[in-house]
Amino acid sequence: MTALRVAQLGDLDQIASLEVEIFGANAWSHAAVLAECSAAAGSSRHFIVATRDGLVAGYAVMMCAGDTADILRIAVRREHRRERRASALLAALVDIARSHGCRRIVLEVGADNSAALRFYAAWGFADIHRRRGYYAGGVDALVLNKPL
Ligand SMILES: CC(C)(COP(=O)(O)OP(=O)(O)OC[C@H]1O[C@@H](n2cnc3c(N)ncnc32)[C@H](O)[C@@H]1OP(=O)(O)O)[C@@H](O)C(=O)NCCC(=O)NCCS
Repeated sequence: MTALRVAQLGDLDQIASLEVEIFGANAWSHAAVLAECSAAAGSSRHFIVATRDGLVAGYAVMMCAGDTADILRIAVRREHRRERRASALLAALVDIARSHGCRRIVLEVGADNSAALRFYAAWGFADIHRRRGYYAGGVDALVLNKPL
């Protein structure tokens, strides 16, 4: 069974491992994951997890500032993809962003990340800018925007 909830300190080891598995050279360190989780105790940062059978199957991090929400991460464990988990996480982020009065959501994604680009396109995000060499290895980032 899948459920969404706020990330807890007990999730951090799983999330830090998933970071390395999924993002490789661009992974957040354990300390960075802890910092994000701690920052989410405040009001402008949000760190949520999708669990399946008590384990972290996916997670998402977003910050809200002024009229803009920035998605910093959405990731789903490989074996649990294409089961609408990222969609559930993103739907929750959209609700949170709206509740903060945000008028748009933005994010950066690797220009070579076709799965994520299709995912965000399916959710109505449009490409508004290219940041050259943004990621480790020199991969460009596309900045995507979704009006709320
Ligand atoms: C991108 C990612 C988060 C999608 O997670 P997911 O749980 O598989 O996505 P969903 O099941 O909610 O997909 C919803 C829709 O997005 C699109 N989509 C998602 N993954 C896709 C893929 N690999 N190829 C084509 N379309 C895809 C489809 O339209 C899909 O609907 P469908 O399955 O009914 O066709 C996941 O592939 C992932 O964790 N990738 C690595 C991390 C990453 O790149 N994160 C984004 C940048 S921060």
